[in-house]
Order: sequence, then C-alpha cells, then structure tokens
Amino acid sequence: MYKLIAFDAYGTLFDVYSMGRLAEELFPGHGQALALMWRDRQIEYTRLVTMSDPNPNGSKYCLPFWELTIRSLRYVCKRMDLHLTPDYEKQLMDQYAKLTSFDDSLNVLKTIKEKGISTAILSNGSKEMLATVVESNGLKPYLDKVVTIEDVRLFKTAPQAYELLLTAFSVKKEEILFVSSNAWDALAAKWYGFDVFWVNRFGHPFEEIGEKPNFEGSALSKVLDSIKTKATLSMI
Ligand code: LAC
Repeated sequence: MYKLIAFDAYGTLFDVYSMGRLAEELFPGHGQALALMWRDRQIEYTRLVTMSDPNPNGSKYCLPFWELTIRSLRYVCKRMDLHLTPDYEKQLMDQYAKLTSFDDSLNVLKTIKEKGISTAILSNGSKEMLATVVESNGLKPYLDKVVTIEDVRLFKTAPQAYELLLTAFSVKKEEILFVSSNAWDALAAKWYGFDVFWVNRFGHPFEEIGEKPNFEGSALSKVLDSIKTKATLSMI
C-alpha cells in the first residue's frame, strides 16, 4: 500500500486550461492558442533556467515560477502580436492566482486521507501562489504538505526536485505514488523511481521516450482505483 500520494499542482489539481476562456474574452479568436503557448513557454523557461546551471545548490538563473509565468505571458503576446496592456496582464495573472481546482480534486484528496494515506503537492509553483490557490479551493485540510521546488531552486524535472518528497516525508521511494497530468512530469518521476499515475484527460498519446506510467486514467478520481490495485497486489 502506498504511504504517500503526491500530486503535481498546475494542470493536475488546478485547471490551468481555464485560462483560455479569459484569454479569449481579452483577445477574441486567440484565447486557446495563447493559453497553450503560454503554458509551453512557462515550462520551457523552467527548463532553461534549470539546465543552464544544474548546480545542486540551485540554479543562479532561477526565478520564482510566478515571475516566469508573467515573463512567458509577455513573450507569447509579443510573439502572437497581441497587445498586452498592464490591465490585461493584471487580469490574467489575478485569474492565475485564483485558478479553480478540477471537480474531483477535493474529493480525491479527502478520500485518500480517510484511508490513512498521506497527501502532498509537489510543484514548481512559488510558495505564495500555491498557498493562495490551495486555500481558495478549500484543499488545505486534505493536504499534509505543499512541497515546492523553491527550496532547491531547480525546477522539475531535476531529480533534486522529486527528491524533496523524500526529505519532507519519512517514506521510501517505492511507497510513493506520484500523480501528474503532465506526461513529461509523469515520465521524469518514473525515471526518478516513483510509481506514477498519469491523468490523461484529453486522450493524448504518452511520450515516445522513457517508461510508461504504472497507471493511466481519464480523470483524477481514477487514482482511487490505483490505490486499490496496489493494495490488492500486495495482499496476493
Ligand atoms: C507544477 C506544474 C509543472 O505544478 O504543473 O509543478
């Protein structure tokens, strides 16, 4: 039986793609593309700063995820030739700070806690932005810890980022199930040595490199089945 189930935050517990709706109101006809490119560029920046100085004491190029999120928004608007006024930027970032969780996020965390298993977030996000979004969605009582890479200044997929879970909880690698909707994150966590559940809401193919996840489901609620599976297997 797993002792800890750790979740990625953005895209997994919180619906980043809902940003597309506001982006569409501000930039009619471009909202969806903007939201996708924004997300890609944000992750690209996390990789760029990490890989350019993968120092175990943290990358000297590291900026808070919040800051990278703003910079990537500015870049993408320029690239798409969209005029990002200070007011539009504020509206988009305010909405990012208050992202809503997916319908099943709260219930999944609550059910896991009721089974006596620990829960955590392991995210690239900044402490403050995570605290706000966790609180505003009422998830706080159901999370033992919110772990952020800010302590190591190396973003996922650096192994030091995944290792934070082993420092935060006294559990072994094999007692952790890591849950992410980002295939790259699921893949890297598997490489690191965790069992992995990939939430594949959009029916996307998995990456063409690395190992397949241990579990895959179209909704977060399916994570509850994988706990049963592990428990059943360990009883056999
Ligand atoms: C996170 C992003 C990568 O929460 O989704 O870490």
